[in-house]
Amino acid sequence: MAIWNLGSINADMVYAVPHLPGPGETLAATEFSQFLGGKGANMSVAAARAGAHVCHIGAVGADGRWAVERLTEYGVDTRQIAEVSAPTGHAIIAVEASGENQIILLAGANHAITQDQLGQALSQAGAGDTLVLQNETNAQVDAAKMGRDLGLKVCYAAAPFDAEAVRAVLPYLDFLILNEVEAAQLQEATGMAPASLPVAQVIVTLGSKGARLFDTNTGKQQDFPAFKVKAVDTTGAGDTFTGYVLAGMDRGLPMPQAIGQAMRAAAIMVTRHGTADVIPDLKDVQDAIL
Ligand code: ATP
Ligand code: RIB
Repeated sequence: MAIWNLGSINADMVYAVPHLPGPGETLAATEFSQFLGGKGANMSVAAARAGAHVCHIGAVGADGRWAVERLTEYGVDTRQIAEVSAPTGHAIIAVEASGENQIILLAGANHAITQDQLGQALSQAGAGDTLVLQNETNAQVDAAKMGRDLGLKVCYAAAPFDAEAVRAVLPYLDFLILNEVEAAQLQEATGMAPASLPVAQVIVTLGSKGARLFDTNTGKQQDFPAFKVKAVDTTGAGDTFTGYVLAGMDRGLPMPQAIGQAMRAAAIMVTRHGTADVIPDLKDVQDAIL
C-alpha cells in the first residue's frame, strides 16, 4: 500500500546559538548549515526510510528543484510535486546547546497547492492507502474530505498547532498525532480530552518522556517510555516519529510495534543535527543499541 503525504517542503537554515534569542536581542550564531526540511518532507523521508512507498503531494518554486531531487534520491515518489511561481518555503531555525529550538517559517509555495493538483494525485490512490496532512500547506480540509470519500486512512499531524485547523479536519480523521502541549490546547479549545475525540486512534507524544496511545473505540490507553539518549537537536523528532508510525501501520504492524520502532528512530534523530537529510533508516533503527 502507499502513503500519500500532502506536505510542506522547506529549505531549513539552521543556526547554532548559545541560547534562543529573546525579544529585541541580536545574537551571533556559532555555526550555520542548510538541510532539506518542512514537516511534510521530513515525514515523507522518515516513512520512506522506514520502508513505505510514499507519494509526496506538494509544491516548490524554481529555487526548490534541489529539494525535489533530494526527495527522489531519498526514495520518495515526487511526481505529484508541482513547480509554481511562488518561492520555495523556508525555515529559519535557531538551535541551542540543550537541543531546544525556535523556528520562523515562510510558507511560500507550500500554500500554492491547487484543487486540480490534489484531485489528480489522490485519484491514483487505492482504498486502504494512507493520507497524511500537517498544518504547513493549504488545502488541508479539501484533502481530508477527499481522503475520507476515497476510503483512505486519513491521518493528521497537528503541527504547527492551530486549534481551528484541527477542528476543521477532525470529522474526517482516523488518526491524530500531537504533542502534549498541543493536546492541552486542543482540549481547551474543544472541551475534548484525547480519549474523547471523534478519532479512532490518537497519539500524544511526550518528548523525552515518550508517547501515549489512545484507542477511543475501546477506551484503552497505553504508555510507551522514550529511550534515554543525549539530545543535541530535537528538530524533526516529532516528524520522524510520525513518519515511522505511519510506515509501520501501512506495513500492517500492530500499533505498539509501530510505536516502538518510531520511538527508536526519534531517539536516534535527537542525537543528530539536522532534519530530513539525517533521518535514520530502518537498518540504523534496528541496529542501534539504545
Ligand atoms: P518536534 O516539534 O521537536 O519535532 P514534537 O513536539 O512534535 O517534536 P515530541 O513529543 O517532542 O514531539 O517528540 C516526539 C517523539 O520523539 C517522542 O515521543 C519521543 O519518542 C522522541 N523524543 C523526543 N525528544 C526525545 C528525547 N530527548 N529523548 C528521547 N526521545 C525523544
Ligand atoms: O518539524 C521540523 C520542521 O519544522 C523543520 O524541518 C522546519 O522546516 C519546520 O517546518
